Amino acid sequence: MTITKKQLENARLHRRTFAIISHPDAGKTTLTEKLLLFGGSIEVAGAVRGRKSQRTARSDWMELEKQRGISISSTVLTFTFESTHINLLDTPGHHDFSEDTYRTLMAADCAVMVIDAAKGIETQTEKLFRVCAARGIPVITFVNKIDRPGPSSLEILSQIEKEFSIEAVPVNWPVGNGPDFLGIVDIATDQMHLYDAESSDSRDTSRQRGWAEVLESNDPLSIDDSSVNLPSIGQHLQADILLHAAEEIELVKHAGLSYQRDKFLRGDQTVVFFGSALTNFGMELFLRGFIDICPPPTSPQTDEIGTSNDLPQFSGFVFKIQANLDPMHRDRVAFIRVCTGRFERDMDVTVARSGNRIRLPRALKVFGRERFTMDEAFPGDIIGVVCPGELRLGDTVFERSPVLYPGVPQFPPEVFASIRCPETSRRKQFDRGLDQLVEEGAVQLFWGTGRQRDAVLAAVGELQFDVVRFRLESEYKAPAELQKLPYTHARWYRCNDRNVSLACPYGAKLVKDFFGSPAILVQSEWDLKQLLRNNPGFSFDAIHETR
Ligand code: G4P
Repeated sequence: MTITKKQLENARLHRRTFAIISHPDAGKTTLTEKLLLFGGSIEVAGAVRGRKSQRTARSDWMELEKQRGISISSTVLTFTFESTHINLLDTPGHHDFSEDTYRTLMAADCAVMVIDAAKGIETQTEKLFRVCAARGIPVITFVNKIDRPGPSSLEILSQIEKEFSIEAVPVNWPVGNGPDFLGIVDIATDQMHLYDAESSDSRDTSRQRGWAEVLESNDPLSIDDSSVNLPSIGQHLQADILLHAAEEIELVKHAGLSYQRDKFLRGDQTVVFFGSALTNFGMELFLRGFIDICPPPTSPQTDEIGTSNDLPQFSGFVFKIQANLDPMHRDRVAFIRVCTGRFERDMDVTVARSGNRIRLPRALKVFGRERFTMDEAFPGDIIGVVCPGELRLGDTVFERSPVLYPGVPQFPPEVFASIRCPETSRRKQFDRGLDQLVEEGAVQLFWGTGRQRDAVLAAVGELQFDVVRFRLESEYKAPAELQKLPYTHARWYRCNDRNVSLACPYGAKLVKDFFGSPAILVQSEWDLKQLLRNNPGFSFDAIHETR
């Protein structure tokens, strides 16, 4: 089936591709679930992933994941809201798997940062925010759990501004919090959405009142509506809460902060929504606002779209490789983010790195553990392609004319270990398994540059090591012994002057990464500072592009 350039552009404009970043327990799973409920992709709450109470889960496909009750691998969840097709890149919340989250962010056009209203910004959120800032990914903020007591909304905004040096622009404003939470005011329309404490609707069906009218009468239920059950608090307290919210909203309006698209896209501004994912409150306001604000899919090469009358070619890049996704098939799936054009089943593409022409016979849409065949895909969509060894992490694929997207970076590891296979007879399987897991990005591997060429495994979190050991044993029947090494930081280095040698801190180790780039491992923050100070002729990278 052929399509026109206009249809292709229309498909692009009606797509949104984003990832949620948060500290564990802030409510990422609950928010994901509620968004999927809105889009009709799931029918019951609790279907997304085992929260503490529900361990069997859609995106928990891996045995280890099930055992630990944490989400290790990212999957893509899709849903449609009105005419917008939304791709939600699901990411593991646990710190130890943040490398996977970092990589997944490379395929997102926008990130939604979920903050627990009671706890404010927590360490993992901060780290993930910094990755977004470094990679130029705009961030929308969702302040969750406003049905619980916590600091004032002004304090939360000021914390975001201070910690991230970013302008925080609220689009709605909570009236009261915790047990005294009465609702949310939509700042643009000056409508108050009344919180119904007893509503058990799976949708946000909140009633609305004009904010000015509520203030004048000092009563959100000034027009009698017996279907709304506001929290029962005294008249005086209610009047105080309304007055306080009115003052805060005045302050916000007075500050003159307004959403500016260019500032938001540059990462100088974040748009802030308040809500409660668990009670669905504020969800619809958030979803509609999100669709307006999140940019439609773009690619570094989109100029091409505007200049030619031809249909833009299909192109994309691999941001994730996952082997043995389906234990029944033991295959290797490369996840490609479509950047331009339309993907069609049985399409021939060129791999930019190798120049090889390969056929993409069948693309898969992976929803948790389930797989569906996709006949076509558009910019912003994620396709899973079964690829026995042809595709690597960071590869660009294109249909006709060469393009090259930035590679998927390696992120700074924080824990290190030596690894060996104690059974000589399983060495071959061990080497093959380790190579595949490194190519997949499940873990990083460095080789010592000395005579022994010893292998050093490196990861952002120790659970990654458990996954490697577990998968080597279960998927390749290759036992592995790991021993923790004392390194704490890795830096990739470069120097243009061949006559200058690197002054290494005591105990540092020179290595090469899996792709052959030189790096150094050091044993403390202090050593790292020494390294940077004593080697002015060198440049050091904490994040490294794989090509
Ligand atoms: P995560 O994926 O970011 O780790 O968080 P998750 O959604 O699993 O939520 C963590 C806990 O916070 C859950 O409770 C969840 O019910 C609760 N929660 C999420 N959103 C809200 C909200 O808007 N208001 C309130 N009050 N609570 C919220 P749990 O007891 O740890 O788990 P469960 O027993 O509910 O599964």
